Parts: sequence; structure tokens; C-alpha cells
Amino acid sequence: MNTDHVKQLVQAATKARLNAHASYSGFQVGAALYTFSGLVFTGCNVENQSYGLTICAERNAIFHAVAEGHRHFSVMAVVADTEEPVLPCGACRQVMAEFNPDLRLILANLKGNVVEYSLADLFPNPFRLD
Ligand code: THU
Repeated sequence: MNTDHVKQLVQAATKARLNAHASYSGFQVGAALYTFSGLVFTGCNVENQSYGLTICAERNAIFHAVAEGHRHFSVMAVVADTEEPVLPCGACRQVMAEFNPDLRLILANLKGNVVEYSLADLFPNPFRLD
């Protein structure tokens, strides 16, 4: 994935963010997932009046891809309106690790600040059944 592809993925996450249903926190997040086969799946956070039912943008993007039959993820971009690029929550890190413990993460804010991590650095020891 070259620099242009990374920009496009961040753009896709930025666009998905606009669909966030974040009436309770006011904190909108967008995610875009790039598969090894070159497809993009997006997600946004969707909140609920029963707060615990909320789903984060990252998991929404992953579940969207899985529902469409795709499980081999190479890169995920996440965008929020934060001072520093947004970091995925622990629950999302565990779900990412299910599919690719070395997932490349491109984390950005609306000001254009971008940081990159490997999931393996942010979440080195996921829970495993075996
Ligand atoms: N949220 C995400 O969508 N992704 C994250 O990585 C952290 C938090 C959402 C959940 C909730 O709708 C709002 O942001 C505030 O926590």
C-alpha cells in the first residue's frame, strides 16, 4: 500500500465518520479497513440510548467486512476529531487481533495528524482460547 492508498483509506474513514450515530457522546469516529484482496470496508460508531449497546467504528468496519465474506485484513484507518490521532479501545484491539494480530493501523485526526502502529505493538498479548 503506497502513500496515495493510505490517503484514500484515511479519506474513506473520514467520510464514514460523518455517518456516526453519536448523539450521546457527541464523539464521531470513522474507520476504513483494507483487505489483502484490495477491497475497502467502512464503519462508524453507532450509539444507543442503552449506552452499553454502542459499537465502535473499528468493530463496525470489521463486522461489515466479515458479513460480506472478507476476513483477511491488511490495514485499518481510524479518524476522529481529537487533539492527537485517536487510539482504538481495548475491545476493538481484541477483535482486530482475531483476524490479524499484525494489522497495520493508520490513526488520524481531522487536522491531518497521522500516526501509524502495528497492532502487535499496541496489543501484544490478545486473549486466546488455546
Ligand atoms: N469509539 C469508537 O468508535 N472507537 C474508538 O476507538 C473509541 C471510542 C466510540 C464509542 C462511542 O460511541 C464514542 O466513541 C465515545 O466513546
